[in-house]
Amino acid sequence: MAHFDENAKPFSAKWLDERLALTTVSKVLAFEYWIPKNINFLWAMGMVLAVTFGVLLVSGIFLLMYYQPSVDTAFDSVNYTIMTEVGYGWLWRHIHGVGASLVFLIIYIHMFTGIYYGSYKRGREMIWLSGMLLFVLFSAEAFSGYMLPWGQMSYWAGMVITNLFSGGSLEAYGLVEWIRGDYVPGQAFLTRFFMLHVFLLPLVIIGGIVFHFATLRLPHVNNQDGENFDFEEAAELYKAGKVKESKVIPFQPVFLSKDVFVMGVYFILFFYLVFYNFDFAMDPVNFDPADGLSTPAHIYPEWYFLWSYEILRPFSKDFGLIAFGIAQVIFLALPFLDRSPNVAPASKRGLFNIWFWLMLLDVLVLTFMGKLPPTDATFAFIGLVAAILFFVLWIALPFITKIEKKL
Ligand code: HEM
Repeated sequence: MAHFDENAKPFSAKWLDERLALTTVSKVLAFEYWIPKNINFLWAMGMVLAVTFGVLLVSGIFLLMYYQPSVDTAFDSVNYTIMTEVGYGWLWRHIHGVGASLVFLIIYIHMFTGIYYGSYKRGREMIWLSGMLLFVLFSAEAFSGYMLPWGQMSYWAGMVITNLFSGGSLEAYGLVEWIRGDYVPGQAFLTRFFMLHVFLLPLVIIGGIVFHFATLRLPHVNNQDGENFDFEEAAELYKAGKVKESKVIPFQPVFLSKDVFVMGVYFILFFYLVFYNFDFAMDPVNFDPADGLSTPAHIYPEWYFLWSYEILRPFSKDFGLIAFGIAQVIFLALPFLDRSPNVAPASKRGLFNIWFWLMLLDVLVLTFMGKLPPTDATFAFIGLVAAILFFVLWIALPFITKIEKKL
């Protein structure tokens, strides 16, 4: 039985510490959570993501107080009640909309930082896999949220994406009707996407973030030189004050102060968009109520799904579905397709450097092409080439990284 100080005052710091192990917990999570010293502002993106998720949760809870998940009233509850009747309702809606868009921008920066520095190798495979799980969950969360205002784009994007599940032999199983709960998107569809968006998916995402953090604890974060050193040894030297130039710093207060600075800059941009440019996160077509009898001239998803949508578009329905499915999950396989043990920035990895920049450029081209109507033959051709290049790059990856191993 542990020793307790009988004289400690109830709820004093000592009394709480003896019962909740506060000192140990704060050491493990903050004061003795060691971070390499040679990392730049890109390593703050993880915390920016965690805080943006918090902002989405809080703003979502405020919106939930007035939102009505009924096909007859959902559109008005958002566009009339929340936007014009409820005090500051517009502010919470703008915060939620801008947050949903920016979270993807930061996720992509965070992912490509990981790829550039090879942060998915040498013991960090589970960090990558749990991160990709979060990406898939955030995609499902964004898609389900997009259905809720029940505007024209909600309805028709819901129709197009669920239609994918009628490809090939899936048609026979009635999978689309099963997902929709009806022949076309209707009340059952809205109710289930509402439940997913406000309850089930946020719950799983919270679990996913805790898991992602747990996967970081033992391998520690990577650094911008790919340097491999013994963290515990470096930490002992830091604590003993024996080295002038320590290789590690504690998360609290040293790295956290950098995180907070980056977050300050980020929130200036965030609130600039909320107050002056919120329409970048809202599609004008979605300000018309859902109408199953009038198809919009051009149906496209939000900007963060455009690259994978463009991979789907040039192909026939069945093949497009397979290509789209692979594109969604192929990044999961990265730690296993990159066969070089070399953890270093891409700039020092020969062919991989070219691979990295081509992949980034390709995803950007796919994103731009995805927004354009499919009628222009030149753009459709560029989209097709970019979609093929995406797969060629993934097929080439194991080969070019195997050559790198030999060099
Ligand atoms: C969306 C919610 C996410 C949150 C809240 C989150 C949070 C974090 C945090 C706090 C870190 C440590 C600091 C840093 O390196 O930024 C981190 C590291 C990492 N995350 Fe995420 N992350 C998320 C999504 C993702 C995604 C989508 C991926 C990509 C698959 C990913 C892959 C990684 C990797 C590889 C590291 C290690 C970086 C290194 O060792 O240098 N994360 N994440």
